Amino acid sequence: MIYPKTVYIHTIGCQMNVYDSERIAGGLMPLGYRQISEPESADLVILNTCAIREKAEQKVFSFLGRMAGLKRKNPELLIGVGGCVAQQEGRKILDRAPYLDVVFGTHAVSRLPALIHQVETTGGRLVDVALSNTIQESPADTISVNPDQISRFVTIMQGCDNYCTYCVVPHVRGREMSRSPDRILSEIKTLAESGIREVTLLGQNVNSYGTKEGLCDFSELLTRVNGIDGLLRIRFTTSHPKDLSDDLITCFNRLDKLCRHIHLPVQSGSTRILSRMNRKYTRDTYLDKIDRLRSACPDIAITTDIIVGFPGETSVDFEKTLSLIRQVSYDGLFAFMYSDRPNAPAARFSEKISEAEKAERLQQVLGLQEILTLEKNQSLIHSVQTVLVEGVSPRMHASEVGHEAVPQWYGRTPGHKIIHFPEPERLSTTGNIGRLKKIHIEKAFSHSLWGRPVSQEE
Ligand code: SAH
Ligand code: SF4
Ligand code: F3S
Repeated sequence: MIYPKTVYIHTIGCQMNVYDSERIAGGLMPLGYRQISEPESADLVILNTCAIREKAEQKVFSFLGRMAGLKRKNPELLIGVGGCVAQQEGRKILDRAPYLDVVFGTHAVSRLPALIHQVETTGGRLVDVALSNTIQESPADTISVNPDQISRFVTIMQGCDNYCTYCVVPHVRGREMSRSPDRILSEIKTLAESGIREVTLLGQNVNSYGTKEGLCDFSELLTRVNGIDGLLRIRFTTSHPKDLSDDLITCFNRLDKLCRHIHLPVQSGSTRILSRMNRKYTRDTYLDKIDRLRSACPDIAITTDIIVGFPGETSVDFEKTLSLIRQVSYDGLFAFMYSDRPNAPAARFSEKISEAEKAERLQQVLGLQEILTLEKNQSLIHSVQTVLVEGVSPRMHASEVGHEAVPQWYGRTPGHKIIHFPEPERLSTTGNIGRLKKIHIEKAFSHSLWGRPVSQEE
């Protein structure tokens, strides 16, 4: 196949957007587009957008401003905007950005090639933000893998039915819908045959996979994915704490490829705030799930998301978040300042917290977690960890860590921690990347670990 045209895809937002961008790249190949990594010489630029917080939206318009400059130089350039801001704003984006050619929503990814073809042949400016109540699959033959990729995301369900009061996702991704297990399994088999060693199964609430449609449940799906030859590791995100089942907890011991890591967003440590967020669990029921996870699987890594400054969050509520973080002692967390989303009910809640107070609370959460992460990392010194090797560290030189001048490789533990390790080039000629390697940990930093390989085994 010859690819006479080039597409540059810029992705903002969560892993689901990364997955959709990969589908976009694959879907445009039959039209003759090959993906490039800079927009300057592209024939087509696609921006895949996120609406989760205000900042994500601002990024959209600053990026589009840059693309307008490119279009002035090359009037043939086509520009498309997809993803969650496209879904939310629809035609309004075309009005605001007169140089745009296509706006496509979150359910229109599989229709994008037809939209682009139409613009190429008949011209015009198109908008497709229709939400459907069935999953819009892309043709199976449009899956493409870069030779240097070992890890991929696979969306197993789309949308969300939970309606947390702060969240835009149900409004821009539609109702929760699960993909058929057969499609998911055949996609992962294709990826594994093309050299992918790790998949992360994606959904806003993977624990409710298949329930509405009466498909197999999430534990059953994981069990089937675990049986795929060539695949070494399985991850998933996100589990909603209200639906975390004992059945899933047993999977961490039962399935050899499933990484012992769970991302379990708590959002707040105050039951009062959790109720205003419509999270449908309390501080105590959340902590009970953490106990059950740790008693079944003591070495499991647990990470979370925190929102600071939700409307009505008092300093007492915020102290409860800090105390919960200390009590759970997370391996890592993402913390966000609450941001009003026009479609979400919390935008109309009173008792808004000032930006300065939110920023102060954010710093406290991040500062606390920095200490906890370093302590966790230090506790791993002298242990042996298995990494999936991802590549040679681009920035880390042997001299920086005070060791011999051999290449420094890196990979991740099942708990998603990055480990750097030295290995002479001659030992790596058989292809280190994509292999599991045991590393004896010698040093711990706040964002990574350093150790030496203990054996060459798979
Ligand atoms: N489905 C996942 C999260 C998806 S959004 C879950 O339920 O956990 C990712 C994270 O963004 C959320 O966990 C939350 O911490 C954050 N977030 C979502 N809406 C937000 C808002 N309006 N302001 C600030 N952070 C928000
Ligand atoms: Fe948003 Fe809540 Fe759904 Fe997560 S579970 S996507 S936070 S509505
Ligand atoms: Fe953003 Fe949409 Fe994901 S709002 S976080 S890209 S689902």
